[in-house]
Amino acid sequence: MAKKGTIEFVCQTCGAAYPKWQGKCDSCGEWNTIVEEKSGGEGFSNFTPKSKGRILDFVPLSGALEKVERLETGIKELDRVSGGGLVAGSVILVGGDPGIGKSTLLLQTCAKIANKAEGYECYYISGEEAIDQVRIRAKRLELDQSPVKLASATGVKDIIATLEKSNAAVVIIDSIQTMYLEEVESTPGSVAQVRACAYELIKLAKKKGFVLFLVGHVTKQGSIAGPRVLEHMVDTVLYFEGERGHHFRILRAVKNRYGATDEIGVFEMQDKGLVEVENPSALFLAERQGNISGSCVFAGIEGSRPVLVEIQALVSPTGYASPKRAVVGWDSNRLAMVLAVLEARCGMNLSSQDVYLNIAGGLKISEPAADLAVAMAVISSLTNKPLPADAVIFGEIGLSGEIRSVGQPNSRLKEAHKLGFNNAITPPTHGNEKKNTSYDMNIYEIGNVQRLINWFN
Ligand code: TYD
Ligand code: MG
Repeated sequence: MAKKGTIEFVCQTCGAAYPKWQGKCDSCGEWNTIVEEKSGGEGFSNFTPKSKGRILDFVPLSGALEKVERLETGIKELDRVSGGGLVAGSVILVGGDPGIGKSTLLLQTCAKIANKAEGYECYYISGEEAIDQVRIRAKRLELDQSPVKLASATGVKDIIATLEKSNAAVVIIDSIQTMYLEEVESTPGSVAQVRACAYELIKLAKKKGFVLFLVGHVTKQGSIAGPRVLEHMVDTVLYFEGERGHHFRILRAVKNRYGATDEIGVFEMQDKGLVEVENPSALFLAERQGNISGSCVFAGIEGSRPVLVEIQALVSPTGYASPKRAVVGWDSNRLAMVLAVLEARCGMNLSSQDVYLNIAGGLKISEPAADLAVAMAVISSLTNKPLPADAVIFGEIGLSGEIRSVGQPNSRLKEAHKLGFNNAITPPTHGNEKKNTSYDMNIYEIGNVQRLINWFN
């Protein structure tokens, strides 16, 4: 580790440090990301050992637990994602593309908490926008009367001096990339600054017991700019995602020391800010047109709840030497696998066809349970025969063409039933898993991809 005040060369993408400059970072493989920085001692500013260490007390694993107090924001989708409310002294990093709505979400959260009868002190510190800009947003959101304390500042020293004396319950720093500490001689947004500023702010949040939100920018590659270290330093990492052209936004927990990860909250960006979406399936399926080939409905699970989405495939003869495969919202490797299985096990000829796959509405799905729905959409497009509009599909496909069971079939079926679907195409029931047949639905269990073709004859 570099000594205080020494020069080192740090990759701005991954945080790896080198003694001299080089064009390519050996650690992450990026070009032109290495920048000269004067090390401020890793943010642990003035560390000089004053005395010998103290002997540690060891305790048994069992013992009385401190109850975690949670502050409910009143925004249900955010409470769900955070694991049932905000924990005092916890630090939450909110990442997302520019313009996706991070500032809007946090201003709404802050105002909602400040408006509570308990009189929580809420601080909104903007390093990106001037007071007037935030005020205009507050007016638009009709939150300009709520007792939020607003400041436009970037100096972490000033922020810490102010918060030390406050009785803050919630503090929002928008964004961590604009903050700076004079002691660290590199520009705001550099790895050293981000790390040092975050370290100081987190230390204060733990000491004073307020909830700290840090807004973090996202790089081209989709990870939070600055070192990965930032994600390790905080308790919770939330990503705010969505497609530019779509009005809905997904808040996704990727790390949470106080709750489940992969939980999602769904919001819709409207004229007057973000509105919670209680029934995401209805939203995702709103623009679906029935009786079209290449389209089918996948019953997925996001976090703890079922979400129905439309999967669209377009298969058309290729004009290229090697056929094109393009995927939006799903894993392109998985599509390649599904296509290979269809070719090898069902004898389909896809090598002369371009295949485009789209998860309608802009949702990103990572579940292998979508395999079967993708395969159905592809076959439907290839044969130009639509699937019944009131059928949902889920199931994983194995390399030998077998359809494998997936988690929580009953929640998927229940959601589909709730939304008026009458048919479900599912993997066979195995072992202890019992499909609940009390829903008034026709359930078709398919054991192998070869049998899929029968649906289109
Ligand atoms: P913003 O919160 O500034 O995004 P971020 O902080 O992530 O960069 O959101 C900006 C976008 O949201 C902007 O394009 C306008 C839109 N918006 C609405 O559609 N409705 C609203 O009520 C507000 C405040 C913003
Ligand atoms: Mg912003």
